[in-house]
Amino acid sequence: MLFDLVAVAFWAMLPAYVPNNAAVLAGGGAPIDGGRTMGGRRLLGDGKTWRGTAVGTLAGVALALGLNALAPVVVRATTVSVPTFPLPAAFGLALGAMLGDIGASFLKRRTGRERGAPFPGIDQLDFVAGALACTALLDFAWFQATFTLPVLGVVVVLTPVLHVLTNGIAYVLGLKDEPY
Ligand code: CTP
Ligand code: MG
Repeated sequence: MLFDLVAVAFWAMLPAYVPNNAAVLAGGGAPIDGGRTMGGRRLLGDGKTWRGTAVGTLAGVALALGLNALAPVVVRATTVSVPTFPLPAAFGLALGAMLGDIGASFLKRRTGRERGAPFPGIDQLDFVAGALACTALLDFAWFQATFTLPVLGVVVVLTPVLHVLTNGIAYVLGLKDEPY
């Protein structure tokens, strides 16, 4: 059923959705690139900090552990068999989301985009690519069992929609400087 599919995709990706938003709240402090440049431009820029990355990753892992506690309740109360997250999968989703976002900043700087400049498509899916790749690397069996082709399809369609929505809300609340 489509609802089950969407519910499973959303649940499985939640530990990858939260890190970027947590990083926005926690950001600041020393940039990861330490101010280094490449070809006259910053390697990553001031928008990628150690603190934001660490807090974002921890927030994603903590959320996964919370979902693990909640999963039996959801499975018993509904027809949706939501997955639980082994620690490597939780870590892969959260850290991978941060790494995907960092990789996108690297690409943005190489293509002459200043900090905060939009990069349509990349902005909405960088963290999905990072999260999926990192999770597959750290726990391939879990990745394969959880992200079936239909679930992956829903993730790719659902994520940009959610991304635009949540960033729009963060912008309106004054938490983010740009609505993307
Ligand atoms: N942030 C952080 N560390 C990260 C990711 C995000 O500290 N690894 C914080 C920064 O304060 C950043 C804010 O979250 O400014 C918003 O994140 P994002 O939109 O990804 O960064 P931008 O500032 O837009 O920079 P970029 O152009 O490199 O994406
Ligand atoms: Mg940005």
